[in-house]
Amino acid sequence: MNYRDTMNVNKKGHLQIGGVDAVDLVNKYGTPLYVMDESYIRSVCRAFRETVEKTYGEGGVAYASKAFSCKAIYEIAMQENMYIDVVSGGEIYTANSVGFDMKKAYFHGNNKLISEIKLALNVGVGTFVVDSFDEIDLLDSVCAENGIVQKVLIRVNPGVEAHTHSFIQTAKVDSKFGFGVKNGYADEAIDKILGKNNLRFAGLHCHIGSQIFDKQAFALAVDVVTDYVVRLKERGVVVDELNFGGGFGVYYSGDDPKYDVKEYCDYVALLTSSLKNAVEKKGIKKPFFMIEPGRSIVGEAGVTLYSVGAIKEIKGIRKYLAIDGGMTDNIRPALYDAKYDAVLANRANEKATEVVSVAGKCCESGDIILKDIALPAAKRGDIVAVFTTGAYNYSMSSNYNRNFVPPVVFVKDGKSAYAVKPQTYEDLVRNDVSLEYKD
Ligand code: LLP
Repeated sequence: MNYRDTMNVNKKGHLQIGGVDAVDLVNKYGTPLYVMDESYIRSVCRAFRETVEKTYGEGGVAYASKAFSCKAIYEIAMQENMYIDVVSGGEIYTANSVGFDMKKAYFHGNNKLISEIKLALNVGVGTFVVDSFDEIDLLDSVCAENGIVQKVLIRVNPGVEAHTHSFIQTAKVDSKFGFGVKNGYADEAIDKILGKNNLRFAGLHCHIGSQIFDKQAFALAVDVVTDYVVRLKERGVVVDELNFGGGFGVYYSGDDPKYDVKEYCDYVALLTSSLKNAVEKKGIKKPFFMIEPGRSIVGEAGVTLYSVGAIKEIKGIRKYLAIDGGMTDNIRPALYDAKYDAVLANRANEKATEVVSVAGKCCESGDIILKDIALPAAKRGDIVAVFTTGAYNYSMSSNYNRNFVPPVVFVKDGKSAYAVKPQTYEDLVRNDVSLEYKD
């Protein structure tokens, strides 16, 4: 795990997050439980924003709320002067419901529904990131009906593909996202937008991948995108804004680098310095700079707490600890073979003495949260704490097997509070009805 000043092991030998003892959290809220460290989230937001201000100037940071979305996180984003990235009517509705200034929202998606477009316009979403020719026509016509001139960026596909530890530059055009720069589709999309009365072309967006450690991939994306800005300038097209998406890699386990907040800012500073250099060297207008990190803001803020239940040892093969959650609250191991670090939160100062696998409770053999992890010999009732579960866990959770999605509790300065309350059996059947066919 990547311990930091808001996460430590206390005198009792218990894991402590945001000044709150994890055992006390379990006694108060039960398990499984998502815990989010508010101070950590705020510190990353602040550090990213300050880096943009200091190293570039005109620009901002949008929190990619697909990583973790609920009312409380939009309130925090608002208080931290963040922009947000939203990708659905649900995210727009949630952000708007707490009074987030929707002018500071970027609306993404490769297939925005008409109902979502209408909702977005209705609440005054500031920027649409357009991702298909079809959307250009649709958005323009809905805007015309409502007498709106909407600011848009187009999502371009710069042909830089980044994976965790490496990147490749490809001419690959097979992606459901973005307009290809190399095949002329981006030009065509811009021309089409410029021909519309109710759309205002403001610039370009790109997103080269997620959980990226190779920082040079971002520098390359800046290079490719600004080369394209030069070609647009030659055609008389002005680009006011460039948005480089998200994707900064965070520590999960093993060899992943353990960054502190300052080191995360190196990603941002590399993007801003690459852009400043490109602006000077290529003689283009200095654009408004935007990034959209999600995982690096909330990922390491999250810890999931579970109780150990059944323990099954298959002699000579493997020992399984079964927990009271699983793929319903963390689909990432099953979906991406994702690896995590964990401790026993109530015995966090004890040495690991055995290697076990931690299995979820779902009816699915792939429901293994931790494969071959070293832990002290655990018994029923011990608390397993899995780290770096703040991004894409709650937001990708499900009620599979009609299990509950765990509640979310925020911790800060020794205090805790619900952000998402526990589900009840009544919640699970709320929308169920007995069949009543009518002719
Ligand atoms: N901007 C755009 C347009 C994106 O598509 C994404 C992530 C982000 C920003 C934020 O990227 P981040 O900073 O969080 O890497 N479910 C997967 C991750 C999918 C990421 C999708 N797009 C996972 O659990 O790893």
